[in-house]
Amino acid sequence: MAQRFPLLPFLVLCLCSSASIIGIAHQHEDSTTQTMEDFSGYPIHDHHSFIQNFASSSLSVDTESLQNQIDELATFSDTPAPSVTRILYTEKDVLARRYIKNLMGISGLSVREDAVGNIFGRWDGYEPNLPAVATGSHIDAIPYSGKYDGVVGVLGAIEAINSLKRSGFKPRRSLEIILFTSEEPTRFGIGCLGSRLLAGSEVLVKALQTTVDGQNKSFLDAARAAGYAKDQDDLSSVFLRKGSYSAFVELHIEQGPILEEEDISIGIVTAIAAPASIKVEFEGNGGHAGAVLMPNRNDAGLAAAELALAVEKHVLESGSIDTVGTVGILELHPGAINSIPSKSHLEIDTRDIDEQRRNNVIEKIYQSAIKIEKDRRVRLSEFKIVNQDPPALSDKSITEAMEAASKELNLPHKLMISRAYHDSLFMARVSPMGMIFIPCYKGYSHKPEEYASHQDIANGVKVLALTLAKLSLN
Ligand code: GLV
Ligand code: MN
Ligand code: MN
Repeated sequence: MAQRFPLLPFLVLCLCSSASIIGIAHQHEDSTTQTMEDFSGYPIHDHHSFIQNFASSSLSVDTESLQNQIDELATFSDTPAPSVTRILYTEKDVLARRYIKNLMGISGLSVREDAVGNIFGRWDGYEPNLPAVATGSHIDAIPYSGKYDGVVGVLGAIEAINSLKRSGFKPRRSLEIILFTSEEPTRFGIGCLGSRLLAGSEVLVKALQTTVDGQNKSFLDAARAAGYAKDQDDLSSVFLRKGSYSAFVELHIEQGPILEEEDISIGIVTAIAAPASIKVEFEGNGGHAGAVLMPNRNDAGLAAAELALAVEKHVLESGSIDTVGTVGILELHPGAINSIPSKSHLEIDTRDIDEQRRNNVIEKIYQSAIKIEKDRRVRLSEFKIVNQDPPALSDKSITEAMEAASKELNLPHKLMISRAYHDSLFMARVSPMGMIFIPCYKGYSHKPEEYASHQDIANGVKVLALTLAKLSLN
């Protein structure tokens, strides 16, 4: 093999440290292997030349099976097709998890779950004690969303492993697929719950002991009903041990229009924008919609409406197209046409690639809330910053591996930022991280029209497979 596929071009193209890593690997291999290598004069595990071979020819994606799986997973939904609604720890979520665990098993992965239901499927490398290379995403879906967000990075990862197995590749470092629990904040208001915990958030461990959903069901009860968090209230068992992974790569639809508009197959993410979310509540006296005259009102609903408009104003004041803000939840109590709202509840999402600029917006929103309280004689009963996360940067060694993989596969690619957040934002705290984006129809996401073509998904899976293969040899 070494003679047919010379090592040199791969080493130059890929990673100059590879040669020394091969040297290190030598020292760890057992004496039988070393002796055989010494005698044969070339490495028995000659995967570098092997990669060159399958990059050009033998890396195949079973697009039909993959699409069938995407379609089947979409049927685990609480709303009718084409929409998908799959909320954390509901029956549909549990069934969908079972479906994924089954596929992982069929692919020969060893499957385990942690106390919040992060699911891990591992393919042992021939040096299983080295930190593994991980990939993965989420399968929870916000209300009335589509079937590709997150799912492509989970089912696509399983297919990437299948593809590597079919090609005969043997990983040096183990490859591990992670299905992250609750990337979406829908049920408990906390985005990237599973990856945040994996990354070691003590604050979240504490918060989860008292967190409840909109129906006042506690996080711990909901987790237990789904078979997790057995008899532990302290979920710090979920924290990853330092150095568990040498790399983390997530495949995801772009959720924006750039790749499709520019006819580019692969986006290589260099950074993920900084997200924040805020919960606000106003309270007023309420009363009869006919009998209470306008000067006598302190309408909590109007306070919320005014704050929603203030969010837009402050975001626009930043002067940057990269600053965004959304009031995606606005609830009025008691919610009757002839009753003045006595309570209002807003949830505000604001993000920016510039953390300081995003923080300025949060401060301005807070100042507006206080002013509205005063002007409208309502009570600002809650202003809670649920999360205020910094941005994350991809690791150069991973973006280079993704670029090299795209080049070897002859796929047009470009560097870009992610405006959406992902579990990668938190995995970057515990591992070098990178993300692969594929185009999606008109950039649609978080709605039923979300779509990615077979070809684009197959391209993404191939880049993922090749990137994982490269990283597993490092
Ligand atoms: C993830 O779903 C996000 O809201 O960016
Ligand atoms: Mn999403
Ligand atoms: Mn997602």
